[in-house]
Amino acid sequence: MPKRSIRIGMVGYQFMGKAHSHAYRDLNFFFEDLPVTPVLQAIAGRSEEPLRRAAEAYGFSSYETDWRRLVERDDIDVIDIVTPNNAHAEIAIAAAEHGKHVICEKPLAMTVDEAVRMRNAVQAAGVHHLVCHNYRYAPAVQFAKRLIDDGRLGRIYHVRAQYLQDWIMDPDFPLVWRLRKDVTGSGALGDIAAHILDLARFLVGEIGEVAACMETFIKERPLGEMAGGLEAKASGGTGRVDVDDAVAFLARFENGAMGVFEATRFAGGHRNGNQFEINGEKGSLRWNLEDMNWLEVYFHSDEPGLQGFRRINCTEPLHPYAERYWPAGHIIGYEHTFLNLFGAFFKGLVEDQPVKPDFEDGVRNQCVLEAVEKAAASRSWENVEYR
Ligand SMILES: NC(=O)c1ccc[n+]([C@@H]2O[C@H](COP(=O)([O-])OP(=O)(O)OC[C@H]3O[C@@H](n4cnc5c(N)ncnc54)[C@H](O)[C@@H]3O)[C@@H](O)[C@H]2O)c1
Repeated sequence: MPKRSIRIGMVGYQFMGKAHSHAYRDLNFFFEDLPVTPVLQAIAGRSEEPLRRAAEAYGFSSYETDWRRLVERDDIDVIDIVTPNNAHAEIAIAAAEHGKHVICEKPLAMTVDEAVRMRNAVQAAGVHHLVCHNYRYAPAVQFAKRLIDDGRLGRIYHVRAQYLQDWIMDPDFPLVWRLRKDVTGSGALGDIAAHILDLARFLVGEIGEVAACMETFIKERPLGEMAGGLEAKASGGTGRVDVDDAVAFLARFENGAMGVFEATRFAGGHRNGNQFEINGEKGSLRWNLEDMNWLEVYFHSDEPGLQGFRRINCTEPLHPYAERYWPAGHIIGYEHTFLNLFGAFFKGLVEDQPVKPDFEDGVRNQCVLEAVEKAAASRSWENVEYR
């Protein structure tokens, strides 16, 4: 059967721009049966020279210096938003109004109000939508989901999730967009707690109430800009940091489970420690992105004397996505989470089936983030108000 060409228009072209472009380019290589060929049609940004270089490096055939022209083009099917958070809502709503399907990086928005407007716009336009919580699509996480859904852990008692980074511990690290409330919405909370929240919602369920504390350890920094990945360059002068460097919160899930969450960029030695442990009545499991091919599992039903966590390399033919890649034990990496995520999205697009996480998940995630901020300010438990 001939494959359907889906023409991508991507806004932004640095860290996530590169990760997404790579996934589009490799998708047909690993997902031979996918009835879609992603076509790298155009990228948009603000400055012509770096944009031209990025288009050439990533393989896009054209570029626009204003994203509005991109969403108006009739040779684009999907708008992919990989800009800082303050641009997500305006671009996504305009894209939906022009009948484009929308892929948006996380957090979906800066506020619940914005997220709700985005969800309403894609629903009103009847277009497909995806929010890039890519860690759901790590094969070991998909395997954890299968074990939980099959009842192998029984009733879930505890979720313990941490996202630990250390890239801004140097007080001279510049005040980049991720540290400015007007561009990012919140700090470690929206940037990385959003990911562990999505994993917890995916694996365990919805959160009903939270109690929280947030802290900004370094309150003044030199001004500067991101320079690819999590690097930055100073530009002169100083400014006030008005978002959290770290957040910790307790959560009660609607199904009775208890959650303990922590997200920080001040955990020295942890470059990207996105990790969780889940304890249920019949067993436990735990996962860490920095060792992402492995899932650790413990079952009470194991023979006494031989009980303990076992480490499973999730690359056997029985494991999710394993058949897409290499023989058992030939591990995959961070970038493959995007291939799996986009593979699912495009399959859903062709079959006209919704794929998660979508903008509804983005809204629910944002509602929890907002409740955490409220709880930190009020120093008391707050209900999550879902909208
Ligand atoms: N899923 C993940 O694992 C993951 C990882 C990192 C970042 N992110 C998310 O991806 C998004 C982008 O982050 P990043 O690390 O790629 O940022 P970045 O700073 O590396 O790149 C941002 C890009 O957006 C462009 N841009 C900025 N403002 C713009 C505007 N108004 N119009 C058009 N282009 C604009 C910049 O030129 C740049 O190309 C953020 O929402 C972030 O939270 C997700």
